[in-house]
Amino acid sequence: MKSKIVAGNWKLNKGPQETNAFATQLCELLKTELQTGAPKATQLVVFPQTLVLASAVQSFSGSSVAVGGQNIYSESTGAFTGENSAAVLRELGATHVLIGHSERRQIFGETDMLLAKKMWMALKAELLPVFCVGETLEQRQSGQTESVLTAQLQNGLAGIDRNETFWVAYEPVWAIGTGQVASPQQASEAHAFIRSFLGKTCEAPILYGGSVKPENAMAIAQQPHIDGFLVGGASLDPRSFFEIAKNLK
Ligand code: PGA
Repeated sequence: MKSKIVAGNWKLNKGPQETNAFATQLCELLKTELQTGAPKATQLVVFPQTLVLASAVQSFSGSSVAVGGQNIYSESTGAFTGENSAAVLRELGATHVLIGHSERRQIFGETDMLLAKKMWMALKAELLPVFCVGETLEQRQSGQTESVLTAQLQNGLAGIDRNETFWVAYEPVWAIGTGQVASPQQASEAHAFIRSFLGKTCEAPILYGGSVKPENAMAIAQQPHIDGFLVGGASLDPRSFFEIAKNLK
């Protein structure tokens, strides 16, 4: 059985001290869990803001928790003032990176074409990209969910070998930060659609994201095609992040 994944997207939250405190508390919870003989069945990753990356890697060193970046630029060096290089993220110890989060698409105007380049750049730098897709409420209500997902996947993964190591996160925009989680059935249907788009030989895990909390994680996780979660708000507290992971086993 593939191990499940719980990823925490911290967005623009937590400085180095808070990160260190989080790491201490989470590692303590994980240690207690292991002492009870529970299997280490869930992969954990946190995505702090880029400024904190190096100290986050240090805070989590020696633990099973991986650290990823929230964004990279599509070029690795050059005259791109203010941007972040995938190669440097990797050098600092990041192992994963989010690509195409809906906030990047909506607030920063990132296009499918740019995201396709970022996917390529992440893989070139040996970062594991987590490619985020999802429809808005308007698109869902007008029956466009599948066509939106198809376009995002087709364009964003253009030129990416399906055998490369990457993850997909299905995050309906209407569920992000709203408290309105997708129903287990809505999540499962979208994941089944994405799975069939990716094809039988592609093993990319598909995570659900959007208002995941310890209270609702179990019902979604029990559905087919759910390989884990990308958690925003509830990942800021070590205990609720841990509880979500525990519920997945
Ligand atoms: P949320 O965010 O869990 O706070 O809804 C999820 C995300 O943006 O990845």
